Amino acid sequence: MSTPSLSEICHFITDDLQAVEKKLSEKTTSHYDFVDLAVQHVVEGGGKRLRPILLLLSAKACGYEGKDAHTLAATVELIHVASLVHDDVLDEAPIRRGRETLHSKWGNKVAVLVGDYLHARVLSMLVGRRADDAAMALLSDATHSMCEGEVIHAYKNGDFNISQDDYLKIIDLKTGKLITASCAMGAVLGTQEPQTLHALTEYGEAIGAAFQIIDDLLDLVADGETLGKEPFNDLRDGKLTFPMIYAREVCTTEDRTELERIFSLQMDEAGAIEWIESLLERYQIQAHCRGVAQEYADHAKSALNVLPETPARNALAQLADYGVSRDW
Ligand code: IPE
Ligand code: IPE
Ligand code: MG
Ligand code: MG
Repeated sequence: MSTPSLSEICHFITDDLQAVEKKLSEKTTSHYDFVDLAVQHVVEGGGKRLRPILLLLSAKACGYEGKDAHTLAATVELIHVASLVHDDVLDEAPIRRGRETLHSKWGNKVAVLVGDYLHARVLSMLVGRRADDAAMALLSDATHSMCEGEVIHAYKNGDFNISQDDYLKIIDLKTGKLITASCAMGAVLGTQEPQTLHALTEYGEAIGAAFQIIDDLLDLVADGETLGKEPFNDLRDGKLTFPMIYAREVCTTEDRTELERIFSLQMDEAGAIEWIESLLERYQIQAHCRGVAQEYADHAKSALNVLPETPARNALAQLADYGVSRDW
């Protein structure tokens, strides 16, 4: 049976997702037209809304049905969007969510400041919550870990010899922590039960790793239009990601030397894309990456077993598989 699409998985939380969209637009509106224009460009539609979906489903899987989940779901999406706006400046990416990136349209200065502005709006959304609220601690820890991951990744830029272990630590920080926090924040709305919190944390960590491995793969194999981003941007930007680290390990010395040469030129040579595509084919890199991601997804699904069987738990399990088979 093929994996259901994201909208099929989420059909029973459509109303909640609409409420989150409403929060996203209400809570980011300013008194200044240009600020609104720039913010709308990045906040409105086009993304998968994975982190809000995880938060809503985790809350429901733990028995919570209240409205606080909508506000928290909007905060995790805004932290994510801010990270994308800044990440696109770092990666010099031209397209995001099928649109021109903010920095391509209005310059790096506007993009850096809009990213900061989104963080500031998140702070405003959290004012008034109890200081000892567990969700606050989870969100702040995840945000600083995510920034640490981006700093370390930027520092490692251009490193052809980055180890797989170091790379997996970076992706846990830059991607895994916010995904994990989204699950855990949903969970703490509904339960204080350590075993349940632990299960959803373990689930989040595993799907976070799977999700970034597939993101890395899609940069190399996806159709740009479907992906909404420009392919091959990682190599162009001097980033050796999971698929290429694996290729570097398994390929012949000759191929490794050529890969290093192409990497050092940042793909700036006729035929570079075709050569990388043939490397991917010859060493079956796509199958390997999907296989590793599926192992993480299977681990994530088995972590859910301690939760009562509900539609939300079932949807979380389906999301784990969706994260592996997705093409955008
Ligand atoms: C992209 O995240 C950046 C990563 C952490 C891999 P998504 O693939 O969730 O991006 P959107 O939100 O759908 O645009
Ligand atoms: C970015 O990872 C993760 C963030 C914290 C923003 P990527 O650089 O792989 O994300 P994309 O491919 O640009 O979406
Ligand atoms: Mg990027
Ligand atoms: Mg990427």
